[in-house]
Amino acid sequence: MRGEDFKIQVSFDHRIRFTRGAFEAGNHLVSELLETRGRSRVLVFLEHGLKEFFPTLEGEIYAYFKDLPGLSLAGVEWLAGAEEAKRDDRVYQAAMGMIERYHIDRHSYVLVLGGGAFLDVIGYAAATAHRGVRLLRFPTTTLSQDDSGVGVKNGINAFGKKNFIGSFAVPYAVVNDFKFLHTQPEKTRRAGLIEAVKVALVRDGEFFRWIEEHVENLHDLEEAALEEAVERSAIHHARHIAQGGDPFELGSSRPLDYGHWAAHKLEQMTDFELSHGEAVSVGVALDTLYAARVGLIKEAEAERVLRVIEKLELPVWHETLDERGEDGQRRVWNGLEEFREHLGGELTVLLLKEVGVGVDVHEIEQEQWEACAEELKTRALAKGAGEPRA
Ligand SMILES: NC(=O)c1ccc[n+]([C@@H]2O[C@H](COP(=O)([O-])OP(=O)(O)OC[C@H]3O[C@@H](n4cnc5c(N)ncnc54)[C@H](O)[C@@H]3O)[C@@H](O)[C@H]2O)c1
Ligand SMILES: [Zn+2]
Repeated sequence: MRGEDFKIQVSFDHRIRFTRGAFEAGNHLVSELLETRGRSRVLVFLEHGLKEFFPTLEGEIYAYFKDLPGLSLAGVEWLAGAEEAKRDDRVYQAAMGMIERYHIDRHSYVLVLGGGAFLDVIGYAAATAHRGVRLLRFPTTTLSQDDSGVGVKNGINAFGKKNFIGSFAVPYAVVNDFKFLHTQPEKTRRAGLIEAVKVALVRDGEFFRWIEEHVENLHDLEEAALEEAVERSAIHHARHIAQGGDPFELGSSRPLDYGHWAAHKLEQMTDFELSHGEAVSVGVALDTLYAARVGLIKEAEAERVLRVIEKLELPVWHETLDERGEDGQRRVWNGLEEFREHLGGELTVLLLKEVGVGVDVHEIEQEQWEACAEELKTRALAKGAGEPRA
């Protein structure tokens, strides 16, 4: 047989930064991140939902770039965000059109400021225009700062499936600007905390203990506690992506997707009325209780986890869990097969071996899982804390 195998190795710098007021006069972080050789063009996409909270943001950005040598601000554009923007390719096409019109090339920069959904859409446009232009993400929600924004994925929904179209692309840099954290709707600010809880559960028992100790401060969304949780979670997520050995998810093991198989199904079944964070909260509760039921962790450990979720006023249950298909099975159960299909290969679900340590399993026992769903329902109804906050 003639032929040869070649190894192609590519390395990326994954730059994660934390700041406050990135475009305020005197903040040099952004100008230091951007290479100013030649005369690079910069196109900024702002999520429309930010306008009422940051009416001066666009002006600040123009002022920031006005005197920067070697960079020219091509334009600032407001586009619609939130889950709606991922439903079809309209926002994606609009962004593509702008990237083309403003002559953004592979030496230019696209900056995007917005929540996780907006970052996903614009990230996908940036990853596919010219086969990839440099992207600087500025996540503006808890969830996008502590998880999705520091990751390497982007995409939009299609065929009724979440993130069916998308790509892996390492952003040029991610700037977590804490100024944005404090204007989000309370529900959004709170829901994103579950990704910090999740990453603590699968990677860092000490971080989980810190969350337990500060659960009241986190519940009250106190500035210092929220920011510390976001920063520690972001670093854990980025470190796992950079050092976990599978940044582009070629294998089937997905530690950062703890509790996500049921969550993805719940989001889809509620037509995204249940946010990603709230759905993950229910999914983490389910998988944690299941881990205890099949003897992987002690019941007392599972109780610690459920207590943290409840103290944060995040849901452990949602009525959609009760929906059954024609075969009498809970419809959420089908999410397991869909999860396997999405990963490809053998079913692999990460469960807990102890708080802070995950373990991959290749089977979920349906009866035991059903019992967990029932237990969470009883628990939620008894405490009156099952439903997400209105
Ligand atoms: N790419 C990934 O790896 C990945 C991982 C997890 C989740 N996600 C995606 O992230 C999305 C959820 O992201 P999210 O939780 O950030 O919600 P979101 O993007 O839907 O934003 C929620 C709402 O908050 C508003 N908002 C955003 N920032 C604000 C601010 N600073 N002040 C006031 N309002 C603000 C938005 O306009 C929107 O209405 C989902 O689409 C999910 O699929 C992606
Ligand atoms: Zn998630």
